[in-house]
Amino acid sequence: MGIGGPRREAVAGTETDRPEVGLWRVKAFPAEAASVRAARRYVQGLFAHELPSEVLASLVLMVSELATNAVQYGEGAGFELRVGSEHLDGLVRIEIQDMSPRSPSLQDRGLGDGRGRGLRIVDHFADRWGWEPRSSGKVTWFEVTPSSLG
Ligand SMILES: Nc1ncnc2c1ncn2[C@@H]1O[C@H](COP(=O)(O)OP(=O)(O)OP(=O)(O)O)[C@@H](O)[C@H]1O
Ligand SMILES: [Mg+2]
Repeated sequence: MGIGGPRREAVAGTETDRPEVGLWRVKAFPAEAASVRAARRYVQGLFAHELPSEVLASLVLMVSELATNAVQYGEGAGFELRVGSEHLDGLVRIEIQDMSPRSPSLQDRGLGDGRGRGLRIVDHFADRWGWEPRSSGKVTWFEVTPSSLG
């Protein structure tokens, strides 16, 4: 863990299992539609001066889809967004924890279908993604190297 450990901006559930990440920014959101935009803006604000706009657009799109899923399927009062960067050779890792124990499931319907697009978008843009159970709910996460999005 980097000097000072994780920086907490909001109530946090679990510690990260990625100690090589130098800096975690953490924010909790209520489970409501407006939180999707708020989560997008939060990530936009963190990287606005660090990433080219088209790279940031892809990152924010993935956040938007996972936040939407957390609101739709999360089962709890809210979700928590964790943004990890630094000391990861440029990698950005984003985690969203919600209270549902159910797993996200990648649909095999193609982007032309009206539903099942969110995780396909993440699957397309992320270098890696997945989900892990927690004692409360689960974490859905993805990692990108910003150069791979450009
Ligand atoms: N956070 C989550 N908790 C529980 N189940 C989830 C979660 N995220 C996704 N799922 C499950 O995975 C399925 C696929 O998610 P995905 O985002 O790809 O599509 P969608 O939400 O059904 O539709 P779209 O994102 O296109 O509006 C969902 O229908 C849901 O059953
Ligand atoms: Mg979705």
